[in-house]
Amino acid sequence: HVIGVDLGTSAVKVLLVDRNGNVKGEWTETYPLYQPHSGYSEQNPEDWVEKTIVALRKLLEVSHVSPDSVAGLSFSGQMHGLVLLDKERNVLRNAILWNDTRTTEECREIEEKVGKETLLSIAKNRALEGFTLPKLLWVKKHEPHLYQRAYTFLLPKDYVRFRLTGHIAMEYSDAAGTLLLDVENKTWSQLICDILDIDVQLCPPLVESTAYVGTLLPEIAEETGLPANVKVFAGGADNACGAVGAGILSEGRMMCSIGTSGVVLAYEQTGKKDFAGKVHYFNHAKPDAYYIMGVTLAAGYSFDWWKRTFMEDVPFADIVQRAYESPIGANGLLFAPYLVGERTPYADADIRASFIGIDSSQTKWDFARAVMEGITFSLNESVEMIKASGKTVESVVSIGGGAKSREWLQLQADIFAIPVEKLKNEQGPGLGAAMIAAYGCGWFDSLEQCSDMFKQVELVVEPQKEAVVRYQELFAIYREIYPQTKEITR
Ligand code: XUL
Repeated sequence: HVIGVDLGTSAVKVLLVDRNGNVKGEWTETYPLYQPHSGYSEQNPEDWVEKTIVALRKLLEVSHVSPDSVAGLSFSGQMHGLVLLDKERNVLRNAILWNDTRTTEECREIEEKVGKETLLSIAKNRALEGFTLPKLLWVKKHEPHLYQRAYTFLLPKDYVRFRLTGHIAMEYSDAAGTLLLDVENKTWSQLICDILDIDVQLCPPLVESTAYVGTLLPEIAEETGLPANVKVFAGGADNACGAVGAGILSEGRMMCSIGTSGVVLAYEQTGKKDFAGKVHYFNHAKPDAYYIMGVTLAAGYSFDWWKRTFMEDVPFADIVQRAYESPIGANGLLFAPYLVGERTPYADADIRASFIGIDSSQTKWDFARAVMEGITFSLNESVEMIKASGKTVESVVSIGGGAKSREWLQLQADIFAIPVEKLKNEQGPGLGAAMIAAYGCGWFDSLEQCSDMFKQVELVVEPQKEAVVRYQELFAIYREIYPQTKEITR
């Protein structure tokens, strides 16, 4: 067996998988998120470690397998979060997470000093609040006493792996989200460090996602019940691992993940292209491959907001079903899901959401449908950008909350105008992490071969012709909402 550990923003999910890709057991442990000021989002790295250990112990209990049958373990993790360590490798402050937006000033500073063009040519991405480098600059400016003591920094799952094995390393797919990596050449950028007066020695050693890092520390083996000779592999960023889990391992493959945020991601063979910063461009967990990706900040979050605010007592499944009975276009209602700003394509932290076309005849179910359509329209902006980059996309693998209902899968197929696949395993990133461990253990010659074995397509939803035409008209109107509301929603 192998284990995938998915270190998320609200919880750590672990799963145990056999050689055929069957999930034999899962366990989830939650931990708190601290938001001491508006825009702040932090977690205590000690919580991640503690809860991961508990989750691994519970996983063995619920899986009913012999601990000695566990050969390997790897990780998937929330991206971008800054974990700052001193020389003794103690954590200097709470981790500043991907969804923390305190760093607008630092982003401006990075783009001004490094220059937008230079930044894009090296780091392949624009300076956005969520990324790690702006957080590092924020600590340097606002907490100089801590910055002075900083010896190195890690990303969330790299820190947990360090605590489990004693080895410090960062792997490329997550390093790409720091803004300090030369993405094409896979080295830390001396130039970016020099311009911003950051000692490049702060950056940890880099390894491949599939690299063998070490075995478990004896005390961790004892606490979890796992054998100390379990091989630990580096793992990847949650989006990269989601892509591995969904088999996005060659050109033409695309994934749509609707969680709190929504992600549309497509495989990219080289790191040489120029997407002008319109989409994120990161190293894949598959060695020497890449992916491009667009993010809708409030995807599942918009739906949660709608339910929490207006339909608290109605179960999600019922909302989806009743909403789906409302016709295409929700009887004239459109929703733009900018509840917490928007990343792709606008990179605008200030824009806010709107309903357009409210009519006295509409019901609350029309509103719910408009919310679902609006989220999917926003994701379609990323799909359109990926198509416009010249890619032929044959199908989209849908994972996360958006894959849980037939209705939402159909909505994606109709709005994206592409067949949508649903997998038997919902785990996404956790499964990708388990696949990295399975490949690392030598069970397969390549991640592709592993994916052929592990990936089980349960359902393919085809786009419906008439719906596609209708949605194309509506999408054109949806696109008008951002430019028309940009000024008045500030
Ligand atoms: C990606 C991003 C999120 C996090 C969520 O750029 O910020 O998808 O990875 O964990």
